Amino acid sequence: MAINFIVVCTVSIILNLFLAAMQAQAVALDVVAKFGATADLNTDLSKPLLDAWKEACGSTTPTTILIPEGTYLLSQATLEGPCKAPIELQLEGNVKAPADPKAFKEPKWVSFLHIENFKLFGGGAFDGQGTTSYKREGCEKHDFCSNLPINVRFDFLTNAMVQGITLRDSKQFHANVLGCKNITFEHVTVSAPKDSPNTDGIHIGRSDGVKIIDTDIKTGDDCISIGDGAKNLDITGVTCGPGHGISIGSLGKFANEEPVEGIKVSKCTLTDTSNGVRIKTWAGEFPGTASDMHFEDITMKNVSCPVLIDQKYCPWNKCKMDAESNVKLSNISFKNIHGTAALPEVVKLVCSGIFPCENVELADIDITFSGPDGPAKSECKNVKPKVTGKQNPVACSTPVPANPTPTV
Ligand SMILES: *[C@@H]1O[C@H](CO)[C@@H](O)[C@H](O)[C@H]1NC(C)=O
Ligand SMILES: *[C@@H]1O[C@H](CO)[C@@H](O)[C@H](O)[C@H]1NC(C)=O
Ligand SMILES: *[C@@H]1O[C@H](CO)[C@@H](O)[C@H](O)[C@H]1NC(C)=O
Repeated sequence: MAINFIVVCTVSIILNLFLAAMQAQAVALDVVAKFGATADLNTDLSKPLLDAWKEACGSTTPTTILIPEGTYLLSQATLEGPCKAPIELQLEGNVKAPADPKAFKEPKWVSFLHIENFKLFGGGAFDGQGTTSYKREGCEKHDFCSNLPINVRFDFLTNAMVQGITLRDSKQFHANVLGCKNITFEHVTVSAPKDSPNTDGIHIGRSDGVKIIDTDIKTGDDCISIGDGAKNLDITGVTCGPGHGISIGSLGKFANEEPVEGIKVSKCTLTDTSNGVRIKTWAGEFPGTASDMHFEDITMKNVSCPVLIDQKYCPWNKCKMDAESNVKLSNISFKNIHGTAALPEVVKLVCSGIFPCENVELADIDITFSGPDGPAKSECKNVKPKVTGKQNPVACSTPVPANPTPTV
């Protein structure tokens, strides 16, 4: 009896200690409960968040920081590694940036930098409060759009996951991915008005192994833009629109750009966008290469230019329109692309006169246009695509006009 009692007691003590240890590890560092953050629009979340980050990043056990539900003001935050163990930020709250662009000393708001094994999740939002800066019409022409803060930067992260959060009304790009290896965006929402300038959804440059999965992007510029040095990028299940579509480029604007290689875009739907899937390189300008780019199972709904290679990219007349692009494009396929267009030029492949596009395939294209300027056209220049399956309109049936209208 006594022995039994002691055994039961000992077992239950051990069990309790074990559970307590498990809980201690599972409890998140709550910025409100533990670091004095206040959910209102006057108190800056910056110090509590950085204090929590410091503790979490220094911990030798995996740690989660929690921003609980509520609305917060955050002036700016750079959350930097390397950290001693995997780290997570559970964003349940709605975190807002200062509305006034003058409040920023640098063109960034929240940035995650040099972290390995990082996860950002939780259903909350980073709201750039960019609607005030949307009144800057034509800011691209004067280059001051790019001085506005990017909502969230992901710089030099390895093995990272961004899941189930919203990026809203950025003053510039919503997410910028640079120097990352193996980072996944899943069930992310980007939301900004269709007339907001330079507000790309997710921009990726110089990164290897980026995945964008089941993500919804509504914005005023490219939903996804892919810069130089992007490798092994997989985009699938993305809905885009309004916006300017999913774009590789623009490339060739700067010297020493790194090659783009291995881009797969599949099972995406574009609605009311100005472009669908496109590759753009500047007319004239610098050399570069982009290869192994594949677009497959894409639905277009009222897209102005659904399939586009534009090697005469020259917005705002910032280059010589009559010069040929020095970027070499090869190994490209457009397969099973179907739906409706808002303008008659539904396929437009305008390649460089000095580096014609090589190894391009058009397979099963079925895009209709109905309107007074019809019928639908497929225009090609400096490219002889391999054509298979259904082609509506007939592939490359129309020459490219001498002075094509510049796209943005
Ligand atoms: C990629 O990162 C995820 C974490 O987001 C990790 O679970 C996975 O193991 C990593 N893959 C490789 C090949 O390292
Ligand atoms: C189709 O797109 C054009 C141009 O973006 C837009 O003006 C028009 O309202 C759209 N049509 C429909 C039916 O949504
Ligand atoms: C293009 O694909 C072919 C095989 O189809 C391959 O031999 C070639 O190296 C590829 N070119 C580039 C630049 O990736």
